[in-house]
Amino acid sequence: MKGFAAELSDELRAGILADLPEIDLIADEALRRQTTDAWAIALSSSSFRRVRDIPGEATPGSLILKEGGQDLHLRGVTRLAVGHLDYFAGAFPQAEIDRDIVIAGGICHDVGKTFEFDPENQRRWNADGSRYGWPSLRHPIYGAHVCLLAGLPESVAHIAACHSPEGNNVRRSLECIVIHEADVAWWRIAAASGLVRPETLTPEFARMFDPRPLRAA
Ligand SMILES: [Fe+2]
Repeated sequence: MKGFAAELSDELRAGILADLPEIDLIADEALRRQTTDAWAIALSSSSFRRVRDIPGEATPGSLILKEGGQDLHLRGVTRLAVGHLDYFAGAFPQAEIDRDIVIAGGICHDVGKTFEFDPENQRRWNADGSRYGWPSLRHPIYGAHVCLLAGLPESVAHIAACHSPEGNNVRRSLECIVIHEADVAWWRIAAASGLVRPETLTPEFARMFDPRPLRAA
């Protein structure tokens, strides 16, 4: 694992914006920059150069997409979350949900997968989990660390840390609830639609539905 020696090059930033164009939906300029910085820090501290190079899996070896990388999941969760938010904002204008925090949270919720999926880290943990843990840090914990390094608000770091089962130990923020629900929905619908390799379904999903065969190409 390399330390925090982020080379936030223009090329790195351009790749992030190309893979995650929903960053442009963030209205606040500082938040948009911090969101890009978080990915730049995470990528430059890992073996990956592009978001799309990170495997499209929920956790290593589980719910592996038949096609496509992690960018599809991040974009999809962000879009589902914005869809939920737009519905509630339209139907219940008295309900106050922070749109920018939801979008930044959707983009950054899995930023720690750069660490959890890194082949170098996987090799070390598989060689001696007794020494490092297996894994040493799951992606929500590492992701929260990256968000704070990038100067993102606590509310976005909270989404990275608590969108997953780690959040069952706390009371989640409203914006974290929106991302948590979109994240779960994305994986369930993707898996039930037959987009996930069937041998990698979790026991919970395998009990829940029979995946539909994909249309012939
Ligand atoms: Fe996710």
